[in-house]
Parts: sequence; structure tokens; C-alpha cells
Amino acid sequence: MQDKVSIHGSWSSRWAFILAALGSTVGLGNIWKFPYIVGENGGGAFILVYLACVAIIGVPLMMAEVMIGRRGRQSSFYSVRDLASESSVSTYWAWVGLAGAVAGFLIFTFYSVVSGWLLAYVFHAANGNFIGAGSDQLKAMFEALLADPKALIIWHSVFVILVMGVLIRGVSRGLEQAIRILMPSLFVLLLLLLMYALTSGSFGQGLDFLFDADFSKLSWNSVLVALGHAFFTLSLGMGTMIVYGSYMSKKESITTSILTVVILDTVVALVAGMVIFPIVFANELDPGSGPGLMFVTLPIVFGNMLGGQVFGFLFFMMVSIAAWSSAISLVEPGVTWLMERYKLSRVQACVFLGISAWTIGVGALLSFNVGKDWRFKGLNIFQLLDFMTANILLPLCGLLITLFAGWWVKRSISSEELGISKGHGFVLWLFTIRFLAPVAISIIFIANLNGKI
Ligand code: PFF
Repeated sequence: MQDKVSIHGSWSSRWAFILAALGSTVGLGNIWKFPYIVGENGGGAFILVYLACVAIIGVPLMMAEVMIGRRGRQSSFYSVRDLASESSVSTYWAWVGLAGAVAGFLIFTFYSVVSGWLLAYVFHAANGNFIGAGSDQLKAMFEALLADPKALIIWHSVFVILVMGVLIRGVSRGLEQAIRILMPSLFVLLLLLLMYALTSGSFGQGLDFLFDADFSKLSWNSVLVALGHAFFTLSLGMGTMIVYGSYMSKKESITTSILTVVILDTVVALVAGMVIFPIVFANELDPGSGPGLMFVTLPIVFGNMLGGQVFGFLFFMMVSIAAWSSAISLVEPGVTWLMERYKLSRVQACVFLGISAWTIGVGALLSFNVGKDWRFKGLNIFQLLDFMTANILLPLCGLLITLFAGWWVKRSISSEELGISKGHGFVLWLFTIRFLAPVAISIIFIANLNGKI
């Protein structure tokens, strides 16, 4: 069969795909969430569970998504549809692809609100606003930001414009160019911060906290957290990997590229922990959890250490960059679908999605101030968006994609596309995608619903 090429463009090399996929996977999930969920759930013991989840769900599902995209060479909706017709099964499966793109778009609306806080903190850090400040002052600074809808709208708008500015320029001149600059900058910043943490005097204590396996803290809930996080950090269930796969050359091996992405994503998450905990401990603070770690605890550290102004600035720059490259990948599936379905130009699709996301995002940011009491089933707009996407759409789309790729797509197609027809590799993939991954995802899905509805 002759290879098709996406009308949207192609990555120029294998590394372009790897960097772009890494740009998507490395985000707030790695730098903010991973370190504190590791801390809360028993350090090294949790890391082992997490690695198992990545192997059982992450790798096979990412392979399935990239395979679908590379075969279909279109948006998630049309790629799934074509693969369904090629496999002579119902084309209704295409709606799973679209649901993923919608989930990505909805996540973007509030991901950009949090990213706006980060941008605000880049400026706070650069201005030296943390210097000498204590915990109460920094708590008040964060609360003041959340209470100020005008400031939140400005930062949210800046972030939406940054993301749309890249998307509007297309695959080669926009996405690939941006990734080529953003990812190396992110790695350099991370290494600089790691060197700093190494000299903080508490590196060993930080490592102990991160890697000491305390199995007593590991609960059933920890397993659910690990499963859910593996999903989110690897950008699965959202059409992102389908679309990024659609720009990948047939010459590349899907398996090798994905293993590289997954390993590097995990390494970045671990290094982020090795940066954050030693400097928190060096200052005798409690690593705590949630937004407090990023927006209160770390500013206390930066405000009270030698060179904190520079390192605080570098740290918030790094997290903003990680968030930026992830956000790009949340919206690209929607952009490609609108272009294909309604024959819109890229500019029109981006302007439409940009304005829509901005508007919903404003609703979400008002949840922290004037809209605190606008609630549906007890959840404010921000929590509702988070719940609908993280707890419902993502696991559901992920589950359906595993079922589609494992049971409905013809084996001859998947083995040809994955390039692992020989040996036990294919059988292993087929077994995980058919049995292990669907069971694991169903468990998180049901458990999450039970807890919240
Ligand atoms: N993987 C990103 C993170 O860890 O922050 C978040 C994300 C980006 C999820 C893109 C999904 C996605 F499509």
C-alpha cells in the first residue's frame, strides 16, 4: 500500500517526533504533580507501581495511538474512521477519536489558567518579590493572585496567545520550530537546577524521600493514583498521539520512538523530584502537596536562598515552557479536525478554538473569585472541567482506543504498522492491549466515578 502523507505536514526527522511527543508528555504532570504524589504515596514503592502502570497501559496504548495516526494520516476522527473501514468494522469508532480531541480542548481551557499563574510567577521571581518573604506573605501573594480576576484574565490570555501563535504557523514552521527551541531550553534549565540541588546540602535527604520504598504508605488508592497519572503524563486518550503519529515517517520504528519518549518522560519526572525535594529540605520546609508546593513552598525557598532570584526565575521559566509545549499538543487534534471537517484554514481553526478556549477558561478562572459559588453538583466550573476530562473522558477514550486497536483493528494491519510482526513483541503488545490495559483502565474509571458521583 502506498503511504499517504498528512495534509497538515510531517516531522522532519525521528527526533522531531520524539521531541514533540516529549514536549507533550513533559508538563505540569511531571514537574508539579509527580514529585508530590510520590512523596505522599510512599516514595520508591509508589515509583515501582507507577513504572508498572507505564509499562502495562502507557507503552501499549501510546503505541496504539501512534499506529492509528500513522496509518490514517489525518485528525483523530478521520484516522480512526479510515482504520475502521480498512478493518471492515463500524466507522462509529471515529467518534472516539473526536471525543479525545474534545477532551484535549477542554483540558486546555483550564491548563491555560494554571499556566497563567506560572507566567505571573515568572515575573514575581524576576522582580525579586520572593526575597525575604515568609510563608504567610507568600500564601497571601498566591491568594491575592487567585482573588484578582483581572490579573488572572491577563495571564490566561497571554498563555492562550502563546499557544495559538505556535499552532497558527503549522506543523513545520510552528510546532516543530517551537519544540526545537523549547525542549533543549527545558533540558538545560532542568540540568542547571539539578546542579543547584546537588550543592544544596540536602540532596541525599531529597533522594531518600523520593526513593525510599515505604510499602506501608502504599494503599489501593495509591495504585489508582499511579494508573491515572500514567495516563495523564503520557498524554493518552486525547487524540494527541494519534495526530503526532500522523506526522511521523513510515521509516521510523514506532516501538523504539515510543520507548524513548516514555523513558525520557519518566526521567524528567524523577529529575524534577530530585530538584524540588533537596531544596525544600535544605530550607527545612515540609514538601506538602497540591498547588501549595509550587506557588508557596518553592517561592519561600527561592526567597531565602543564595541566588534564589535567578534560580526562582529559571525554575518558573522551565515549568512555563513545559506547560507551553504540552498545551500546544492539547489543541492540535481539534485544529486538524476542524480543518478537515469544515475545510477551515489553519488560521480560522486556531482563531475559533483560541477564542472558545479563552472564553471557557475565563469561566474556569472565575471559580477562584467571583464565581466561587457557581456550582453544579457541588463542583465549580474549574473542578467540573477537571472532573469531566480527567475522570470521565480520558479513561473512557483510552479504554475505547485499547479495545478498538486490540480487538477491532485487523491484526495484519497493526502488526505491519507497528513493525513488530516477528518474534514475541507483537504477541506481548496484543496481550497487553487486549486484556491488561482495558482491565486496568476500567478499574480506574469505575473507582474514580465511585469516589466522586
Ligand atoms: N502530559 C502533560 C503533563 O504531564 O502535564 C499533560 C497533557 C498534555 C495531557 C497533552 C494530555 C495532552 F494531550
